[in-house]
Amino acid sequence: MRKPIVIGNWKMNMSKQEGLNFLASLKDFDNSKLDAGLAVQSLVVDSLSSHKNNILLGAQNVCYEETGAFTGENSVLLLKELNVDFCVIGHSERRQFFNETDELVNKKAQLLLNHNILPVICVGETLEQYENNLTAEVVKNQVSIACANLDIKNTVIAYEPVWAIGTGKTATSEIANNVCKLIREHLATMYSIEDANAVRIQYGGSVNENNIAEILACSDIDGALVGGASLKEDSYKQLIGY
Ligand code: PGA
Repeated sequence: MRKPIVIGNWKMNMSKQEGLNFLASLKDFDNSKLDAGLAVQSLVVDSLSSHKNNILLGAQNVCYEETGAFTGENSVLLLKELNVDFCVIGHSERRQFFNETDELVNKKAQLLLNHNILPVICVGETLEQYENNLTAEVVKNQVSIACANLDIKNTVIAYEPVWAIGTGKTATSEIANNVCKLIREHLATMYSIEDANAVRIQYGGSVNENNIAEILACSDIDGALVGGASLKEDSYKQLIGY
């Protein structure tokens, strides 16, 4: 049985005090049935880290090198020192605005695994690719490169169709499940069926408190990566069943 994992991606939102208040309201969260996480801005990781209790704390970026002359980047060593549990990599916004490639995502995933930080590897097709029936090809190609030669069982993959992010358009649960299944089948060819069955695959893109139950009920979807709806305490609590 794969334990579901629901992650809120705060992107470039929330002040330090808002983050502290948010975590305070979640202090009694019981993670026995579901893992819940929040991916926050790097600048507040240190302040929030000692208040996370059972909420997994995540970063939204990490440098592909451990340390050195990389101005403006986040070191995996510091993420570890600050007790970061996971890091989102390959998000479509980072691919689109910061040129994050599958090769880079793969390096970052490797580095995170070396330091026992869970990589949440995002993949997904653009609207144009979706409309041209290229979803399977694009996603398989992303997985082939971004997920190559990893301790794959200890990663989370997030399937996020770019056309569903922040648009209010959710992929139907059938489409989402089919793509997550395809990712799992592809991982089985890269690794083993056993390993592929152990990987948690999330769906992301306009998930909210009203549609999450249907999404989590799908056979190959093991959680959700949620942007907008994770910014409100009430919605987030409903998303994680608190
Ligand atoms: P959204 O964002 O839930 O606001 O669509 C999802 C994401 O970008 O991870």
